[in-house]
Amino acid sequence: MLPLVIITHTLPEDWLSKLIGQCDPLIGPVDATEMAPTLMDMLPKVDGIFTLLTIPITEEILTRAVRLRVVSNMAVGIDNIDVSACTARRIPVGNTPGVLTESTADLTMALLLSIARNIPRASRDALEGRWKTWSPAGWLGMELHGSTLGIIGMGKIGKAVSRRALGFGMNILYCDPNENNVDFASRVTMEELLASSDIVSLHAPLTTETRGLINQHTLQLMKPSAILINAARGALVDTAALAIALQNNRLKAAALDVTEPEPLPPSHPLYQLPNFLIVPHIGSATQQTRRKMAEVACENLLAGLRGERLPFCVNPEVYSLKEKSE
Ligand code: DGY
Repeated sequence: MLPLVIITHTLPEDWLSKLIGQCDPLIGPVDATEMAPTLMDMLPKVDGIFTLLTIPITEEILTRAVRLRVVSNMAVGIDNIDVSACTARRIPVGNTPGVLTESTADLTMALLLSIARNIPRASRDALEGRWKTWSPAGWLGMELHGSTLGIIGMGKIGKAVSRRALGFGMNILYCDPNENNVDFASRVTMEELLASSDIVSLHAPLTTETRGLINQHTLQLMKPSAILINAARGALVDTAALAIALQNNRLKAAALDVTEPEPLPPSHPLYQLPNFLIVPHIGSATQQTRRKMAEVACENLLAGLRGERLPFCVNPEVYSLKEKSE
């Protein structure tokens, strides 16, 4: 009998072709934001879960999934998963690092360029008939060349954004507790970065330490002429504090790929602001990247089902725990 696995969402079939003949999949709906009730009922029988970042993999799910041998997240971020609860049960958790670095860095630059050069507002004005003539003082934006980009989180994506920004002639500052050896950027404290950057771009993972990193206090440390970009995780930013800072011109503009909550409710004040750009968590949304993410997630899933080490495991300590108990 093939192992039974939950695939929490309906995905393009060819992305999952590696699973054919290897496991018996139970597939959830396209837009699931929690595990479908029919899948919840099957939890006691499943050997593996392939999930997306919109599904919380909670202690409750793990408790019900008594046979579970692997959780594979089709994302690099793993904040939707209770990893310590998985580790306690010796269940390896897989993610998809590396394959979405370049597409997410591209999207970050797209947000940065768009908001710095007023593209959403200028385009709206052109589409809605407010472009009367070449306007010498109209739609003025920020020049990137010579400006300072502050990168919070100099991991793979932070570095890929920096490489692009260097090509635009920007100076780079960064802060990252785990990275002190970057030759193309100056490492500074968070306070220095916020006070000196023209654009602050977030690339840190969501952890207890980084939740609410950009809040009422830290927003006040930024230049009023500065721009905030977030293509990492929504909860790094206190959304209400951001709306107030933009409304009061404490901050020039913000561009978000991710929000907390996600999506923002339609009544959220940020939607009313002219100096705000939002896109629906599309950092990794290219054909190539999304397919690669699915393939890596399949490889992690299959390795876990076979009892092999996952190619990308976020809690490798499960293996030493296993060895000790054997
Ligand atoms: C991830 O993989 O964590 C990204 O947010 C998906 O775009």
